[in-house]
Amino acid sequence: MAVPLMDTRAQWDPHMARVREAVLGVIDSGRYVLGPEVAAFEAEAAAALGTAHGVGVANGTDALVIALRALGVVPGDEVICPSYTFYATAEAIAAIGATPVFADVCADDLTLDPAAVETAITPRTSAVVVVHLFGHPARMAALRALCDRHGLALLEDAAQAFGADGVGLVGDAATFSFYPSKNLSTFGDGGLITTPRADVAERCRVLRFHGSRDKQTFIEIGYNSRLDEIHAAILRIFLGAIAGWNGRRVEAAERYRSLGLGDHVELPAPSGVYHLYVVRTTSREAIVESCRAAGVGTVVHYATPLHRQPVFAHLPARELPETERAARTGLALPMFPTLTASAQAAVVDAVASHRR
Ligand SMILES: Cc1ncc(COP(=O)(O)O)c(C=O)c1O
Repeated sequence: MAVPLMDTRAQWDPHMARVREAVLGVIDSGRYVLGPEVAAFEAEAAAALGTAHGVGVANGTDALVIALRALGVVPGDEVICPSYTFYATAEAIAAIGATPVFADVCADDLTLDPAAVETAITPRTSAVVVVHLFGHPARMAALRALCDRHGLALLEDAAQAFGADGVGLVGDAATFSFYPSKNLSTFGDGGLITTPRADVAERCRVLRFHGSRDKQTFIEIGYNSRLDEIHAAILRIFLGAIAGWNGRRVEAAERYRSLGLGDHVELPAPSGVYHLYVVRTTSREAIVESCRAAGVGTVVHYATPLHRQPVFAHLPARELPETERAARTGLALPMFPTLTASAQAAVVDAVASHRR
């Protein structure tokens, strides 16, 4: 039985009639950018997450750039972040003239290690960007206490974790991506910044529109980074489905456990919304091959962590042993809300067969 790594179409299908109607509604409305659908989505998404403000932007990378600036990060600052994450996390820091300083992750859930963050702080550090990697909430209480002690801003990169417990509730701001493969997604690019702080939300709104409040007076250099009405209308529909989709991901993760996948590979830390289901194994090549032979999709993420990417070769070398181990041993297996028990049994069988 062939099993794809993800199947976004199957999760969207039951909602497609409403999506088509909503898209046509926007086309007929004559409002295409930053209109009533965006305003409604911003308010509904913030409410769903339990925070005060939402600011729609063009994608999750712009969300990081704009949020970092809104939190007061300026050129020459150092910003601590993980190396075991998608490139955009550190790219956004460098894009505004700050320097990413890579800290190691915890062995169990691969999120930023607060102790490692503490040792990376210097007088130039102004912020920490924490990533809720693969949908797993990071150690927010410890990071918040640390940031408060040292006077640092705390930004949550929640691109992979919409709807995970506590995500977006502890940092000074959080950023989300709605790229098609994300848990909450649209048919193209989209992003969101959330924040409990009115001042941060206001600065994000100015920055996303060319540094202007009123389209007449330009008070700083900003960006053209807006969310389209069509995407916002689609996202409002999918926002109603996200809790159910995330719940089915959690059920699928529990099923992998009960099917005995843990006899063959190290399972991901429980909890979170399993944007990706990443197991750990020292037999990665053999398992990739046995899955390929069985028609089971797999992918390796972040095999070259950011501190070893050519673009950051000029930065001081750092020892990040858990990051290196994750990069060597992580392997994503099929995970999506419509994944069936029989498909999961086929995945477990394909993984087990690497020893046969
Ligand atoms: C952790 C992380 N941060 C940031 C991004 C950037 O989001 P986008 O692709 O919407 O720019 C992504 C996803 O691509 C991501 O996985």
